[in-house]
Amino acid sequence: MSARLVVLVSGSGTNLQALLDACADPAYGAEVVAVGADRSGIEGLERAERAGIPTFVHRVKDFASRDEWDAAVAQEVAGHRPDLVVLAGFMKLVGDAFLAAHGGRVVNTHPALSPSFPGMQGPADALAYGVKVSGCTLFVVDAGVDTGVIVAQTAVAVEDDDTVDTLHERIKVAERTMLVDAVGRMAREGFTLDGRRVRFGR
Ligand code: GRF
Repeated sequence: MSARLVVLVSGSGTNLQALLDACADPAYGAEVVAVGADRSGIEGLERAERAGIPTFVHRVKDFASRDEWDAAVAQEVAGHRPDLVVLAGFMKLVGDAFLAAHGGRVVNTHPALSPSFPGMQGPADALAYGVKVSGCTLFVVDAGVDTGVIVAQTAVAVEDDDTVDTLHERIKVAERTMLVDAVGRMAREGFTLDGRRVRFGR
């Protein structure tokens, strides 16, 4: 039976698209059962709609508090009974209610090599620091900012003439492959957390 994925997005959704394309092959072992967002009018939601996948949008500003928004997102996600929740370019931190409901089976992709350059500006911070290698990290979401247990990482060279955009685009190519490979393994093999390590297998 396929693992049920709920994917949360905030932007162009190229990582989501990579998952949708992978899920088209039954041997991949996963299906995207819903796509959620914290804003409307984004390409990520259009990609889901084109694929015939149910979508939902919860905007922080439509709730009385951040905690109420977080609880609403958690509840909506729970309604889709996910085996794994994938934050794919979701530009919000999930909170206590979300982690209470889904913690341990939520992964996020970050465009830097953790633990370097956490936060919203990973590619810009890496470029400003002058590192020669950066990359991407898939991790199991915890209460920190990009601090969770690392599932996968891929290194990407920083070129002398890179801008934030060229570096981020190069990272995103690696990120999509990393995400598809790692989520597929998690779906097919199962996984457990052992301290700061992910162990594949049931
Ligand atoms: C990815 O690089 C993700 O790590 C970052 O934003 C980008 C989202 O890209 N936080 P997309 O929406 O999947 O195209």
